[in-house]
Amino acid sequence: MSVFLGIDIGTSGTKTIAIDPSGRVLAGATAAYPCEHPRPLWSEQDPEHWWTATVDTVRQVLTKAKLKRGEVSGIGLSGQMHGSVFLDKRGKVLRPALLWNDQRTAAECEEITERAGGRKRLVKLVANPALTGFQAPKILWLRNHEPKRFGRLAHVLLPKDDVRRRLTGELATEVSDASGTLLLDVAKRQWSKPLLSKLELDDSLLPTVYESEDVTGRLTAEAADSLGLTTDCVVVGGAGDCAAGAIGNGIVQKGLVNTSLGTSGVVFAHSDTPEVDPAGRLHTFCHAVRGKWHQMGVTLSAAGSLGWFADALCRSDPSLAADGVVDFEKLIAEAADAPVGAEGLYFLPYLAGERTPHADPHARGAFVGLTLGHTRAHLARAVLEGVTYSLLDCLDLMRQLGVPVKQIRATGGGAKSPFWRQMQADVLGAPVHAMRADEGPAYGVALLAAVGCGEFASITEACDATVETAGVSKPAARNRRPYADRVGVYRSLYSHLRPAYEAIARLSA
Ligand code: XUL
Repeated sequence: MSVFLGIDIGTSGTKTIAIDPSGRVLAGATAAYPCEHPRPLWSEQDPEHWWTATVDTVRQVLTKAKLKRGEVSGIGLSGQMHGSVFLDKRGKVLRPALLWNDQRTAAECEEITERAGGRKRLVKLVANPALTGFQAPKILWLRNHEPKRFGRLAHVLLPKDDVRRRLTGELATEVSDASGTLLLDVAKRQWSKPLLSKLELDDSLLPTVYESEDVTGRLTAEAADSLGLTTDCVVVGGAGDCAAGAIGNGIVQKGLVNTSLGTSGVVFAHSDTPEVDPAGRLHTFCHAVRGKWHQMGVTLSAAGSLGWFADALCRSDPSLAADGVVDFEKLIAEAADAPVGAEGLYFLPYLAGERTPHADPHARGAFVGLTLGHTRAHLARAVLEGVTYSLLDCLDLMRQLGVPVKQIRATGGGAKSPFWRQMQADVLGAPVHAMRADEGPAYGVALLAAVGCGEFASITEACDATVETAGVSKPAARNRRPYADRVGVYRSLYSHLRPAYEAIARLSA
């Protein structure tokens, strides 16, 4: 039997799954690692963690599913997007990687916009404006702030592509993740030579770009040995975690929309053509489906906000946590005890600045409306509601731009909670479907590996054969109005706080 592995290099950990040719999940394993914040709104990770977690989880999966060495035919890689792994010419990592939610590059975003000849011209070249999380501003940051390291820079890779380098020895990426560098001509699905030249960046810095289902190499003897696999095993392009999660949910047709509640929150719509938001609020990236694109809004701290809340306020409470590990089901049950609207308490989930819709690296998280009567349950509920309103901000942008929204499917850790799925349906004002095999991005790239190995003719065929919805949460009339009434207050809070955010940034500079 041919088996396919999907490996997702996430922000809080790596998840690996194995599937059989019918798409059945044989086994899964995860390994966690830390994320460093050396300064407020900075976010870094040591790429070595990703490799160790990859080896660890692949080995666990092989053992759990009792797989033999030669049974794994293909691997698909997914991962957190936009991060920068800086390498010298020998392949040595020059510094910790800057991640997708790192906000240090506001000045470099301005520099890129200026060098490109203005925002409109930039969007014409690469379909998106310069945003702090993207990879290109990180390369310029290295040039501007760590010139010695920049002098030794030979290659820049995205997180999952650094794992690919260690698996296959190849420097390669694929279109969906490459879109988030800001250096890809998204419409043509190739590096933008005009932008690279305006930025005075050599294209030899960048890896070869493939389509997501293409084979990018085979395991080296050393990697095969470390993983317990053979050198016949191929590695396909895979996809950035948003596109991979969407594939895992079968978002391969116009009208299908995905919401994902992972560390970040994502609203993702399939598109047959590269539709660009002229104001640049939604991202336009290549889809992991050959010749297709997608539009996407990203809120930076979604389940990540709940994770922060759990760490900050719940870890030492034995009713919610054991050995310092919070039980999220219990925490969400506590939140459900507070009423809709948390009795006038609002949470702005901008703990790592915000991307969609504000594109503001200085935005910060906030509780507004606290009173003596509020308990931890109210705070937890306000966090869930604030994050869900931020998904609505993304979805409403799509609705305004005329993106068709026929069916919404939910994925990510947060979507495992029926309570939070119901809240999504109530706030988004549309039915929200759960998925049968909700394995997230790892599932999407395992399917891409199956396509790359010839098991299916296309990713659309693979999704048709394997992806199924499993139940739907419909908007509840009693909650719909109360949420709709409150979202206006939620939205007004950002404009009121913005001057304060700017002042805080000035004082912390
Ligand atoms: C997408 C984005 C995040 C990361 C982390 O644009 O920044 O979703 O990929 O998962």
